[in-house]
Amino acid sequence: MHKRLLDFLDVRLGIRDILEQNLTKYLLPKNVNIWYTLGAVLLALLSLQFVTGVLLLVYYVPNPAEAFKSVEIIMNDIPYGWLIRYLHAVGSNVIVIALLLHMLSVLFMGSYKKPREFTWISGFVLFNLTLVLCLTGYLLPWSQLSFWATTVATEAAGAVPLIGDGLVRFMRGGAMVGDATLGRFFALHVMVLPAGLVALVGFHLFCVRRIGISKPPFGEDYAPTEVADEFVHEEHPGGIPFFPNYAIKDLAVISLFLGLLALLVFFAPGLFIPPSAFEPADPFTTPAHIKPEWYFLWAYQTLKIFPSEFLGLAAQGVVMTLLALLPFLDRGKERRPFKRPLFLTCYLLGILLFVAISIWGHYS
Ligand code: HEM
Repeated sequence: MHKRLLDFLDVRLGIRDILEQNLTKYLLPKNVNIWYTLGAVLLALLSLQFVTGVLLLVYYVPNPAEAFKSVEIIMNDIPYGWLIRYLHAVGSNVIVIALLLHMLSVLFMGSYKKPREFTWISGFVLFNLTLVLCLTGYLLPWSQLSFWATTVATEAAGAVPLIGDGLVRFMRGGAMVGDATLGRFFALHVMVLPAGLVALVGFHLFCVRRIGISKPPFGEDYAPTEVADEFVHEEHPGGIPFFPNYAIKDLAVISLFLGLLALLVFFAPGLFIPPSAFEPADPFTTPAHIKPEWYFLWAYQTLKIFPSEFLGLAAQGVVMTLLALLPFLDRGKERRPFKRPLFLTCYLLGILLFVAISIWGHYS
């Protein structure tokens, strides 16, 4: 049966050739390491996010009078509704963790360098798009947490000179967070951003596959090579077949992340969903301690550290621009981390600073 189906497809689409080129004959570098599984982990987690998101959409009502109630119904009355909702809400945090690890490993191994500039930039935009998806999703349950976290987050844009006020009004659809904000965040969260994300993931994977996976810069036989000025697909003769050898590793690490997600959903959902997420939004009562999600804490605290919010925003802009343009700024051919002491120092200091400012933001 399986052979007959393959024969049928092979005659019409040449499917055997496609499968061979992308699975069994797709060779990865001999010293490929576990960090290269994170892209597949992200694909798996994003797929789960799409499925749970669509299921939530069946019962969620995007209007301030009913949004909170509809989420309560999902949590309490719909069979396994609580599970779907927690997988989606907690899952978004696990995706950000996987994104940060993927980005850090690519930085450490210098695989953002020529000729992978487009892979890096598309990844960097994906990272930011994912954060905006998280931000827009946060408002949808219309809880105290949603309402006030969105008020704080949109307020920050007010620090932009000249256009700040207009920008805040544009994001909120009015002076305050209200009906219009929910409408536009809903449209962004369920349609515009997911469509953009899918297109960009497609482009990112195209870049990865077209150029070929980079050789990890470790081991005796690694030597930095000059990148040609014409297009060359990076081959790895004698390497490890993607299928089944590396696909098993991908599967193992995906299972590890799904296990982590299950642990969090069943035993510690409160880690990411604080009590104010269970109170309906009240625009007239500001909660005492309203904090953005953990991955925005660094940005929230930077605005407070600088003497003016504008300077804080400018500092964030500089850091993000430097990161986005990194492959064009760091042009040396050396990729071995320990042969790049200046980069390694900035890398470690950057991680330390991110963690320290986030902890400071949490306790401030
Ligand atoms: C939704 C988010 C993302 C998905 C689904 C994704 C997917 C993938 C996959 C499947 C690979 C190939 C295997 C691997 O190296 O892991 C890859 C490689 C790569 N990714 Fe991503 N990625 C995402 C986000 C990012 C981000 C945020 C960055 C950096 C800012 C990035 C930069 C790169 C680079 C430079 C490579 C090439 C690695 C190499 O050839 O050694 N990606 N990505």
